[in-house]
Amino acid sequence: MFLYAFGLVLLFLVFRWLRGLKRVPNKCEKFVYITGCDSGFGNLLARHLDEKGFRVIAGCYTEKGEDELKKICTDKLTTLHLDVSDHEKISKAADTIKTLVGQRGLWAVVNNAGVSVPTAPNDWLLIEDFKHMLDVNLYGVIDVTLSVLPLIKRAKGRVVNVASIFGRISPIGGAYCISKYGVEAFNDSLRRNMAPFGVKVLCIEPGFFKTSVTDSSALKRNFEKIWERLPQDVKDEYGSDYMDKLRLAMREKFEKMSDPDLMKVVKCMEHAVAAVHPQTRYSPGWDAKFFWLPLSYMPTFISDAFFLRNAVKPKVSVL
Ligand SMILES: NC(=O)c1ccc[n+]([C@@H]2O[C@H](COP(=O)([O-])OP(=O)(O)OC[C@H]3O[C@@H](n4cnc5c(N)ncnc54)[C@H](OP(=O)(O)O)[C@@H]3O)[C@@H](O)[C@H]2O)c1
Repeated sequence: MFLYAFGLVLLFLVFRWLRGLKRVPNKCEKFVYITGCDSGFGNLLARHLDEKGFRVIAGCYTEKGEDELKKICTDKLTTLHLDVSDHEKISKAADTIKTLVGQRGLWAVVNNAGVSVPTAPNDWLLIEDFKHMLDVNLYGVIDVTLSVLPLIKRAKGRVVNVASIFGRISPIGGAYCISKYGVEAFNDSLRRNMAPFGVKVLCIEPGFFKTSVTDSSALKRNFEKIWERLPQDVKDEYGSDYMDKLRLAMREKFEKMSDPDLMKVVKCMEHAVAAVHPQTRYSPGWDAKFFWLPLSYMPTFISDAFFLRNAVKPKVSVL
């Protein structure tokens, strides 16, 4: 019985792999708009798709990012200055893209831009901390998508949303997980809404990878900055050695967890954009597949016990 079930799973995986091999034709006529191309996954994806022959429209947050990308890529790649939290800039970018793609429409948008700070226990944060991150990570995704959706419908193309494994399970305070849960929800309703139009909506849920988003020095600086502004009574609840314990925990666990092979994610993004039969969801990273996802399906008391056992506890903890 076990062997029979194992055989069926294996058969399904082989079938899925073979089905996923075929790529869409006429790449040189297909435009792909990517946000957050200054660094990390977005930057690598822009270069990778440019190499594969796609017409990449790279949204960069900084001028430096635009210049560096232009230097490395072919002249088929176009860059745009884009702040995904600024509605006017998004509309202006959409107008430029409309002119660029003409009657062909836009083949794909990859909503990749994102930030990971400010992050801290929720009782350390102010509402502004939540709003800024939601503006970038969630409203930015929705705004960019809506701005080019008519062009994607015309091409019967794709929307690729970069969520996170933290859109499935929520171990940290602040808006990061909230924003990624939101991206998952937007992704799922959009997928069902767009299916009748022949538009595919795909979601990438990476585990931990070594980029600026998981950079431990930036995260430590973020914690220190927020700690500094805390009222004394909250600092007393957490204890004067809390920050030292947090720094140690980050060094021991966080840094070791991040995978340096960003191509694992970029290959999934490329598959979502270019495969004739893309998958609905991708979970790049061994930690995503074999740890975070299974943990997200566990009963709450098990995931809570796991996180609480491993968390740095406040001085006044009753646990
Ligand atoms: N790394 C991971 O472990 C991981 C895991 C799960 C999901 N993700 C997600 O993957 C996506 C890409 O992140 P990454 O890991 O590649 O980190 P990254 O290198 O920091 O990439 C994020 C990009 O977004 C840009 N950006 C920041 N604010 C922006 C704004 N307001 N408008 C437009 N662009 C903006 C950044 O520009 P600057 O560099 O100029 O700031 C950067 O180029 C994010 O959505 C992130 O949440 C990452």
